[in-house]
Amino acid sequence: MAIVRVALDSRSYDILIEQGVLDRAATHLAGYARKGRLVVVTDRHVAAAQLPRLEASLRAANVAVEAVVLPPGEQTKSWRHLEELLDALLALEIERGDHVVALGGGVIGDLVGFAASILKRGCHFIQVPTTLLAQVDSSVGGKTAINAKAGKNLVGSFYQPSLVLIDPSTLDTLPARETRAGYAEVVKYGLIDDPAFFAWCEAEGHRLLSGDVQAREYAIERSVAAKAAIVADDERETSGRRALLNLGHTFGHALEADTGFSDLLLHGEGVAAGMALAFRYSARRGLCPAEDAERVTAHLKAVGLPHDLASAHVKADGAALVAHMLHDKKMAAGTLPFLLARGIGQTFLSKDVVLDDVAAFLDEDRMAAG
Ligand code: NAD
Ligand code: GLY
Repeated sequence: MAIVRVALDSRSYDILIEQGVLDRAATHLAGYARKGRLVVVTDRHVAAAQLPRLEASLRAANVAVEAVVLPPGEQTKSWRHLEELLDALLALEIERGDHVVALGGGVIGDLVGFAASILKRGCHFIQVPTTLLAQVDSSVGGKTAINAKAGKNLVGSFYQPSLVLIDPSTLDTLPARETRAGYAEVVKYGLIDDPAFFAWCEAEGHRLLSGDVQAREYAIERSVAAKAAIVADDERETSGRRALLNLGHTFGHALEADTGFSDLLLHGEGVAAGMALAFRYSARRGLCPAEDAERVTAHLKAVGLPHDLASAHVKADGAALVAHMLHDKKMAAGTLPFLLARGIGQTFLSKDVVLDDVAAFLDEDRMAAG
């Protein structure tokens, strides 16, 4: 078993990564159950595919468990489902010493984390992520949120889990497209500050995507170790270090907005195209070697991820995409900080990006792609 510690003083916790650990979950959860109750929150897809494994392990160890099952999909990160979840947890008479277990992807993790942070002014929660995106990114670091009418993730909190339990075998039932979308976040860690890991992705990423156990475990461990170090250094995104995790997100968010946050473009797919655009924009500004931008584009294309506006199904022109960026929650005092790159593994936060220039680049980039 690989163990990665997120070092945050009294809020420190472990991330445990092991193939098949969901079938042995009781070993890791029984201690929490002795101090209180466990309530699992999941969505219908995960309830069908993975909940029986968790329940069987707990039942075999005589650990009582209750489950709340919500609808799948991004719309579950809403006021309506937050209220439904809080009411369900209150009906179960949950107490502050109990643990809510988020079994699912980023939607369940973000919603449950937020609910736990406000329920009775804060009760404990445990992340058991079941998508690659959640295993390498959203289950770690304590960002929790729901979406509001005005935009995605606009209502939330920083609230750390007590434990993250990762079983890569849960990916066996995840649709291939979802796994590929999560893989964009794996590539992201290489692009931020670990060129050797990006080279590993180029050479071995296809093994991860085809279900190789060692490749999955290696990529998950390396990704969460990278995220844990960043979170330990800048938990609340105040020093600028944690902001590096948003590589590709400003472009990606505009693409997601243009496609209506629909199934046309999954979050990770938007991040993939966004990272390729960030590198090509950096190259256009003379900040980054063109070969590096080409390597990034080529790898994303090779694994079947969107890497430009057309492959992201985006029809809008540069001006319309930049208009979406103006609603970004990172916008401050009229400027939007952008993550650009000096090369692979050399991402930095730039505050001098002119949005008209970005709009012109997006139009040129579409023309160049044909
Ligand atoms: P998701 O939670 O919607 O899961 C994707 C789909 O896969 C859903 O239909 C789900 O039911 C299904 N599923 C999940 N696990 C499965 C499994 N093992 N087998 C079969 N089906 C399974 O999507 P996601 O990509 O995991 O998460 C996206 C969300 O994460 C977004 O809301 C995004 O804002 C958020 N996010 C949060 C952070 C953070 O730091 N908190 C970081 C990145 C993304
Ligand atoms: N996924 C971005 C962050 O956790 O900060």
